[in-house]
Amino acid sequence: MKVRKPSFDLSAVSRYNFGDNAVATHLLNSFHVIVPIGELYFIRSVRPFLKEAKSNELKSRLKSFIGQESVHDQVHRQVWNKLRDQGLPVDSFARFFSDVVIKHSESLYNRIFGAKASLSATVAFEHYTAALADTLFTPGSRLRASMEGAMGDLWSWHAAEELEHKSVAFDLLKDVDDNYLLRSAGMAVATSLLTFFTFFGAAWFIAGDKELSLERLSRDLWNLNSVIGEVWPSLANHIADYLRPDFHPDQKENYSLAAAALAELKLAG
Ligand SMILES: [Fe+2]
Ligand SMILES: [Fe+2]
Repeated sequence: MKVRKPSFDLSAVSRYNFGDNAVATHLLNSFHVIVPIGELYFIRSVRPFLKEAKSNELKSRLKSFIGQESVHDQVHRQVWNKLRDQGLPVDSFARFFSDVVIKHSESLYNRIFGAKASLSATVAFEHYTAALADTLFTPGSRLRASMEGAMGDLWSWHAAEELEHKSVAFDLLKDVDDNYLLRSAGMAVATSLLTFFTFFGAAWFIAGDKELSLERLSRDLWNLNSVIGEVWPSLANHIADYLRPDFHPDQKENYSLAAAALAELKLAG
């Protein structure tokens, strides 16, 4: 598992670069903010347990996991420049999400439920990122085809690395506490937070998008599922997998999809 440091020239990417749909694009813009800030939280949540990894192999995968997530954070923050140039309220949403939501809720959550619960939420969030990556790379997926140029390449690289490290946090939680209820509770927390803040962020971007007419907004909202519709049944299947007591991320073979995507981007290795 390699820590790559690619760069993406986003200068030619258009305003509504996801399926030429403003609502779909603002959902992805919301991801450009909550994903990197969330990934720094993932790193913080695994750190207290690094010594509890039972094998050197897992210790070394954890190091790569932290390295990959750190680069994801840096690269998505570079996208914020593009959103600033478009006059979108990226900084106000990032400040709200980071300073108001994460700063206050993370310490409170850790105090009430403990660091293991935090790790369990990270394991579930990581299942979501891997599930979305798996959906993106499913042969014939409209999602990947709807992404524009360098922005599509950026998501492809990130998604591929999410698949590469999909089982790292899961294996750590297994070593720390292999309790089914703890793992399922993490899924409940991750599902509610991810759903709420993804749509909340998209609404924040839509409200601050001065070039978006009401007419286009209603048209693109109506057509949203023609861009992202395949996500819903896919996520439902992935959640059902996760809730099986004997689930492990490696039961689904999609490492080859990640390798193929990285080879296409000339980032293999
Ligand atoms: Fe990531
Ligand atoms: Fe990840």
